[in-house]
Amino acid sequence: MAEKIRIAMCPGDGIGTEIMDACLRIFGEAGVNEHVEFEPVEMGERVFATGDSRGVTDEAMATVERLGLLYKGPMGTPIGGGGKSINVTLRKTFGAFANLRHFQSLPGVDTVFSRAGVPVDIYVVRENVEDTYGGVEHRKSNDVVECKRLISAPGCDQVHRFAFMTAAKLGIDLVHCGHKANIMKMTDGLFLDRFRAAANDHPQIQTADVIVDALCMNLVLKPQAYRMIVLPNLQGDIVSDLAAGLVGGLGFAPSANIGDKISIFEAVHGTAPDIAGRGIANPTSLLLSGLMLLRHIGLVRTASVIENALLATLEDGVHTGDVRGEGEPVGTSAFADGIIERLGRNPAGQEARPVPDRDEPSFTPPVRPHVNELMRTFETTKSDVCGCDVYIDTQITPLELAQRIERICEGTLFKLTMISSRGTQVWPSGSPYTEVVDYYRVRFELRNPETMLGQVGQMPTVHLLNKVAEKFEITEFQLLKYFDGVRGFSLAQGQ
Ligand code: NAI
Repeated sequence: MAEKIRIAMCPGDGIGTEIMDACLRIFGEAGVNEHVEFEPVEMGERVFATGDSRGVTDEAMATVERLGLLYKGPMGTPIGGGGKSINVTLRKTFGAFANLRHFQSLPGVDTVFSRAGVPVDIYVVRENVEDTYGGVEHRKSNDVVECKRLISAPGCDQVHRFAFMTAAKLGIDLVHCGHKANIMKMTDGLFLDRFRAAANDHPQIQTADVIVDALCMNLVLKPQAYRMIVLPNLQGDIVSDLAAGLVGGLGFAPSANIGDKISIFEAVHGTAPDIAGRGIANPTSLLLSGLMLLRHIGLVRTASVIENALLATLEDGVHTGDVRGEGEPVGTSAFADGIIERLGRNPAGQEARPVPDRDEPSFTPPVRPHVNELMRTFETTKSDVCGCDVYIDTQITPLELAQRIERICEGTLFKLTMISSRGTQVWPSGSPYTEVVDYYRVRFELRNPETMLGQVGQMPTVHLLNKVAEKFEITEFQLLKYFDGVRGFSLAQGQ
C-alpha cells in the first residue's frame, strides 16, 4: 500500500478543538485516514503565552516545512503588544501566495438570495503576500504615518496563473480581475497588466476587469454575474467578506492558502470566544476548507461524498444555532453525526456535487531549498535615472520651501520641478485651498534630460540629497527612473 500523505494539523484556539474534532471524525468515517495521517503541531494562544511573539513553535514551523500541508483551526491574535497574526505570518513565511475561497448557496441556509431564488457560486482568489499586508509602516513626521504598498510582477504572475489554472480545472469560463487601477495606476495597473498577460495563456476562458467599488455594488445587485474574481490582497480581503455575506456569513466560507511548495487550509472565522467550550459552534467552514485540502491531494471522490452528505444534512434542516434556518438547532457533535449518517447520500433539492469514480491520492512534500529563490518577470529592463523625490519633514509653507530648495540645487544637474503634499501638487502651481501637512515631497529632475538621461547614475542624486539634508530633515529618498523609456513614477495630483 502507498505511503500515507502526512498533514500538519492544529485545532487552534477557542472553538477550534470542538470544530476540528468534528471534522476529523467525519474524515475518519469517510475513509480519509486510509490515505492520510494528521501530525499535530503547536500554534496559537498557548505559544504566545510562553512569550513567543510568533505564536508558532520552531518544531511546528519545521513540521509544516517538511510536510508542505497544514490544516488549521482559528487562532487568536493578541491585541496590542508585539504579537502578529499567526495566519498572516504563516501565509507570508511559507509563500502561500494565493488565497482561494468558495462562496456557494447552501441548502437550508436562509439568505436574501436564497429567498429570491438567486444561486450564488463565486470563487475569490486573493493575492496573499504583498500589498499593504507587507505591513511596512513608518511614522514619517509629527503628523504623518505611512504604509508602503508593494506589488511585484512575479507576485502578480503567481496569483493570476493560479487563478486561471484553478478556473480551468473547475470548468469556470469567466474570470474577473478586481482592481483600482484608475487611481493607483502603477500598483493596481501592474496587477491588471499581469492579469491580461496570464489570460493570454488561457484563451478558452473569458476575462473582464472591474473596478473594485463597482464590483462591490454589482456583487450585491447580481452575484450570479460572477464566477471567479482575482484581486490584490486588501481589496481581496474586503470582497471575500462581502461575498461571505451573500451566502450566509463567514461560517460557510472555506479558505485555502496555496503556494508552490506549502499550502494552508483553514477556517476563515475567528476563535469565537463568546461560544467556546459550549459545543454549539458550526464546523462547516473548517470542514469545507478540509474538503479543499482533500481535493488538493487528490482525494476528489471522498471530498465530494462528504460535501454531498453536508448538503443533504443542511437540506434536512439539521443545523447549528448560528444558521438562520428552520427547526431547532443542534450542537457541533450532533451536526457532525448528521453528516456521518448521510455519507453516501446526495441532496435531493439541489444538484449534488459530481462524485468522481475514485480517489487519486498524490502529494509530494517540498524539497527544502538551499537559498531564498529570486523570482523575476522582466529580465531585460534598462533603467535610467532622471531625478529623485526627497521627502521632507517641515512646517514651512510650500512657497518658502520652494525658494530655499531652489537655492540648494543651484549649480547641480537637477532642478526643482514639483512640490506636493499628501500627493497633491502645491508648487509651482496649485490652489491655496489645498491643505498641507508637515510632510512634503520635493521632486528634482535633470535640467537637461535630452543630453543627460542615461548618462547619470544614482550618485549625483545622493550628493544632492546630502546638500538638502544639511538644511532640512529628510524622511525618505526615492530615485526617479525611466524603465525601457517608460516613466517609472506617478505624477502628482494636479501636475
Ligand atoms: P469571530 O469570527 O471569532 O467571531 C465573530 C462572531 O461569529 C461571534 O459572535 C462568534 O460566536 C461567531 N462565530 C464565528 N465562528 C463561528 C462558528 N464556527 N460557529 C458559530 N458561530 C461562529 O471573530 P472575532 O470575535 O472578531 O475574533 C475572535 C478571535 O479570533 C480574535 O483573537 C481574532 O484575532 C481571531 N481570528 C482568527 C482568525 C483565524 O484564525 N483565521 C480569523 C479571524 C479572527
